[in-house]
Amino acid sequence: MGDMDAASLAVPPAAPLPVATPLARPNDVEQASILPTSILVAPHPLLKARCRPVADTDIEQVRALLPRMFASMYNAPGIGLAAPQVGVLLRLCIVDLMPDHRKAPFVLINPEVVAESDEMASREEGCLSLPGQYAQVVRPAHVKVRFTDETGARREVEGEGLFGACLQHEIDHLDGVLFVDHISVLKRNMLMRRLAKDQRQKVR
Ligand code: NI
Repeated sequence: MGDMDAASLAVPPAAPLPVATPLARPNDVEQASILPTSILVAPHPLLKARCRPVADTDIEQVRALLPRMFASMYNAPGIGLAAPQVGVLLRLCIVDLMPDHRKAPFVLINPEVVAESDEMASREEGCLSLPGQYAQVVRPAHVKVRFTDETGARREVEGEGLFGACLQHEIDHLDGVLFVDHISVLKRNMLMRRLAKDQRQKVR
């Protein structure tokens, strides 16, 4: 997601993550002065790809990737980033609703939505892969997500409001789905044309 207003957070931030040999902590980003990886911009074909699950044999790659993803997300700044946005087709994403404070980072490995409410909610969304573009997106108001965290623990988290939308937005990325895929074709085409124009002007 893009630089959305974290003040509209409707759920309290999650408890601090356990610290036992984590794969990455936001502080690692500063300590290692890791350079942010560039974020792919739509309509890049990798953003439409379906990612494969993270396996045990991917752990070293994930370990190397996570600090770069955090650096990219905080640099943007954004509140969520999925691995395909940095060109890695693994089911992995990160979320931090308070990027200025770096206090509530989530690492979600192989996340899946295991329950969602019938009630729907509309919220303005953006995406680091569609810089400067925003649209109202309707999604289930409340979701339960199961994932593996950076310590290897299997966890469940429930989200609503900004957090719930962000979880769904990031998990969508792992199936090649962007927020614009949830809006009308007319609005999507308009937004994609505007993005292409913005990108051309940026290059000049
Ligand atoms: Ni996004």
